[in-house]
Amino acid sequence: MQGLAVKIQEAAEFIQSRWATKPRVGLILGTGLGGLAAQIGQSVKIPYGEIPHMPESTVESHAGQLVCGILAGQPIIAMEGRFHYYEGYTMQQVTFPVRVMKALGIEILVVTNAAGGMNHQYQLADVCIIEDHINLMGDNPLRGKNDDTLGPRFPDMCQPYDAGLMELARTTALELGIPHHQAVFSAVTGPNLETRAEYRFLRGMGADLVGMSTVPEVLVAVHAGLKVLGFSIVTDICLPDALEPVELPKILAVAAKGGERLSRLIPKILERLG
Ligand code: HPA
Repeated sequence: MQGLAVKIQEAAEFIQSRWATKPRVGLILGTGLGGLAAQIGQSVKIPYGEIPHMPESTVESHAGQLVCGILAGQPIIAMEGRFHYYEGYTMQQVTFPVRVMKALGIEILVVTNAAGGMNHQYQLADVCIIEDHINLMGDNPLRGKNDDTLGPRFPDMCQPYDAGLMELARTTALELGIPHHQAVFSAVTGPNLETRAEYRFLRGMGADLVGMSTVPEVLVAVHAGLKVLGFSIVTDICLPDALEPVELPKILAVAAKGGERLSRLIPKILERLG
């Protein structure tokens, strides 16, 4: 086994020593979207710092932990807090937990984030079902020697987000009366927000949303053969000609409202996985 595979195995075995269930779903909770973790029943919480080979937390990513348990009848492993590239982690560090969740047995990865909305039809706290993405981070977690036991050298990206799961998300959101869109997500490194010219450029290239996460994790998930379902919450409206300075407390308040919507939507989707 190569170095990365050994580390993945050691981290997975440690988690199994605390929680012996095989998870079906992995869930990454984005900024301000942690509320869902409280709904997980029979939960075992494992701080990231205790897990072998997990990246060390920076100040920004403090309260990080895995919440393992049952949600809507499905065994699930949720990441309360993620590792962001802008914090200084490498792409391999950012995506290490996805590898570990795959090793633990997940089949589906649900990713969530807070994002800027550039489509003029979007409103604050809207739920977006990510249908495709544009990687503008200038880096890639799959760069370097490929371990063929983890996935192929050249993973296909013609359908990174699972069509069946997207359809299930759409119909469920409609039924629950949750305002939602299907969106193209563009990923930048941050940590700064974009200039007006950058928002204009991103919109012009076909993106509805912009954020600082998710794409690395999705690339690794696809590489690992996982089905992916992605959600963004629109936390700020990024229309270049009507741009206002963003304030973090405002973003977090909007994320909380959107998070409440996801907290209703995601369990209902899990219930219907069959
Ligand atoms: N840009 C980049 N990332 C973001 C934004 C944004 O406007 N809002 C939330 N995350």
